[in-house]
Amino acid sequence: MRLDALDGLRTLGHRLPRPAPPCHLRTREQIEEEVGVIETHPAQHEAFGPDRRVHGSYPTRVTDELAERLRAAGCVFAEDEANALRAAFSGEALETAVARRIEGSPLEQVLGFAAIGDVRVDLGPGVFVPRARATAIAEIAAARRPDARIVVDLGCGAGTLAAILATRLAARIIGTEVDPVAMSSARRTARRYGFEVAEGSWWSPLPSSSRGRIDLAVAYLPHVPTGQLHRIHADFRAHEPEVSVDGGPDGLDPWRAVAHEAASWLAPGGLFVTLIAPEQRTEARRIGEDAGLDVEYEESDDDLVLLAHRPGDR
Ligand SMILES: C[S@@+](CC[C@H](N)C(=O)[O-])C[C@H]1O[C@@H](n2cnc3c(N)ncnc32)[C@H](O)[C@@H]1O
Repeated sequence: MRLDALDGLRTLGHRLPRPAPPCHLRTREQIEEEVGVIETHPAQHEAFGPDRRVHGSYPTRVTDELAERLRAAGCVFAEDEANALRAAFSGEALETAVARRIEGSPLEQVLGFAAIGDVRVDLGPGVFVPRARATAIAEIAAARRPDARIVVDLGCGAGTLAAILATRLAARIIGTEVDPVAMSSARRTARRYGFEVAEGSWWSPLPSSSRGRIDLAVAYLPHVPTGQLHRIHADFRAHEPEVSVDGGPDGLDPWRAVAHEAASWLAPGGLFVTLIAPEQRTEARRIGEDAGLDVEYEESDDDLVLLAHRPGDR
């Protein structure tokens, strides 16, 4: 979870505090200079050609009234957003959706889904918007444990990591989540991808029969230090619950809670994978080692993927 003010802007729903110039007039590099490196939505992969200039039918949409309204509200990819909204809604429902977007609701919450990696998760209002950077957790986890049989996604939110893992592994997958609003989205995502969900804190709602038998656990834990929450983009602060991002004084309280019980839930040789900020490296390792786990790191762009192993033979 990046701590800069642009966190949350890196999805299709980039919004600036002022009208954004038409994106077809600018290269991707120019846009990235303004808003940071862009994690593209599949729609944008189609929109950006090999020369990294916006192409296709975009110039004809310059006069698009809906795109103009979205641009005036600061939406960087106003043309893409207009198309996405029109594809999902029509008539009065479209007007309501546009009003919510202009008022600052993240685009994915307005659309009711987020397309991330190669999965599509249900996303109701007030549910954490999946970040593309978190897909590294699931990809690395699946690559490290392709033969995992029991897998858990702790704090599954809308079910993003569980959904990705369900497309990669032939395993029983269970997502846990404490927030009942996120659980509603997770349940719908779970039906599509065939995993289970259980409501409660971290490991506690898991079936007791899985204790000591979990081959692989993943989590995109809240890890923003409380004092830095104000740096998250205002649209996301207003529409995502604090419990999804607030990691306590140093951002590592959720990891402390999860690590504390990890060795009793993981199978011998079992693996837990999460993502932290580079400045949390030393303390996060100490927490894992104090809990009896062997900790290693893999770099992923600006983040660190933490891999904690329960010692023992698999
Ligand atoms: C950063 S979000 C990640 C959500 C999802 N894994 C994703 O990548 O989109 C963290 C999630 O942890 C959940 N959470 C926070 N505290 C929790 C707890 N004690 N037990 C279970 N889940 C919790 C939040 O509700 C939120 O959905």
